[in-house]
Amino acid sequence: MLQGRKNLMKRVNDFRLKFGKKELVPIMIGGMGVDISTAELALEAARLGGVGHISDAMVTDVSDRRFDTSFVKDKTRFYKHNIDNSDKSIIKFDLGHLAEATRRHVEATMEAKKGEGMIFVNCMEKLTMNGPRETLQVRMASALDAGIDGITLSAGLHLGSFGLLADHPRFRDAKLGIIVSSVRALQLFLRKNAKLDRLPDYVVVEGPLAGGHLGFGLDWAEYDLATITAEVVRYLKTEQLDIPVIAAGGIFTGSDAVSFLESGCAGVQVATRFTVANECGLPDKVKQEYFKASEADIVVNTISPTGYPMRMLKNTPAIGSGIRPNCEAYGYLLDGNGGCAYITSYNRELALHPRAKDIVVMDKACLCTHMRNFNCWTCGHTTYRLKDTTHRLPDGSYQQLSAEHIFKDYQFSTDQKVVLPAPSMAEPVLA
Ligand SMILES: Cc1cc2nc3c(=O)[nH]c(=O)nc-3n(C[C@H](O)[C@H](O)[C@H](O)COP(=O)(O)O)c2cc1C
Repeated sequence: MLQGRKNLMKRVNDFRLKFGKKELVPIMIGGMGVDISTAELALEAARLGGVGHISDAMVTDVSDRRFDTSFVKDKTRFYKHNIDNSDKSIIKFDLGHLAEATRRHVEATMEAKKGEGMIFVNCMEKLTMNGPRETLQVRMASALDAGIDGITLSAGLHLGSFGLLADHPRFRDAKLGIIVSSVRALQLFLRKNAKLDRLPDYVVVEGPLAGGHLGFGLDWAEYDLATITAEVVRYLKTEQLDIPVIAAGGIFTGSDAVSFLESGCAGVQVATRFTVANECGLPDKVKQEYFKASEADIVVNTISPTGYPMRMLKNTPAIGSGIRPNCEAYGYLLDGNGGCAYITSYNRELALHPRAKDIVVMDKACLCTHMRNFNCWTCGHTTYRLKDTTHRLPDGSYQQLSAEHIFKDYQFSTDQKVVLPAPSMAEPVLA
């Protein structure tokens, strides 16, 4: 009882995440594509002594928006003749453009970095881009060239990815981490990479309550993060491998984080609470949807063409949308043969309803276009608790928070408490 009370009083700030001699606040803000985890958000995490992530998802589009480049327009123009063709296999990414867009995104972020923390890039391997190996290699190498502190490999983790970087001069100095959802996935990765003599610098263990794509099936509710992290921590200890374990998924309060840090994890990765931060890339109107959500509004479905289940708000505009596939502009989910499950579903509905003005596609979504337009409202399971982290304003909306406030709440709060921000306008309406 006394022990339990002592734990409640501990703070995340009593722990440190160690990378060699470097000591960090053990809080990582997870990568959220497409540009939901903006450079501004990652920079705040680094300034406050933790780890922030940018994402390289659809980086050519992110570059166009951030730096007024025209990669997407140029690609669309180049493949314009193919727009009405259901076969998208000719659409390839220009590797030079991909490298330049990555370099711009990473370089500008790293140049603005202040403080003792670090900035990593989240690389989702399921962005197969009709050329999985070469595009991933370019994405990772360009991020390293541009000075990123580290790379977190996620979604569709490929066992050979570290090998793609083995000749890069920063292969051993940059931090390389992986996201897994089971001890088995970690074992496979380590076995496959043994000959490289290069262990991951950290392992994010992502449980079933996370946002984005899940490393679980539709039976996700039968798993829990504490059990999986305990298995991973035990396995690494048995193998005498000193790799920091970062727990992720559903960690909502500082006390939640402390319970993982007490049980052998070196840090936590959090995201959902930051989706309503001022610095988060979601439009303000969408942030209000996240605040408003109840638990019943949050679903896990299989509309992502990647084949992985994904969690999202059930009023997500992407669900049921039958827009024309936009691979000439994007095409990030084209597999190595130029196929995408959305194209298949879209063509099926088109054949069934040839005269319809708008078609409905229920089983898959055009994820590139909808993520790009912030119309796929992916979120963590705890999104329904966001309304308890802030004030309701007189107009009925919820007050957004600063990333600093949320970060410090994780860092310093105790007793399962969430500290509310200072009211921003007039008097808050009592809920
Ligand atoms: C809106 C949103 C988008 C996400 N996008 C990605 C992504 O692009 N790549 C990835 O590896 N994880 C993604 N995630 C997962 C987070 O990085 C993180 O590991 C997880 O959500 C942590 O759990 P929490 O949200 O309960 O704090 C996303 C999460 C959210 C909430």
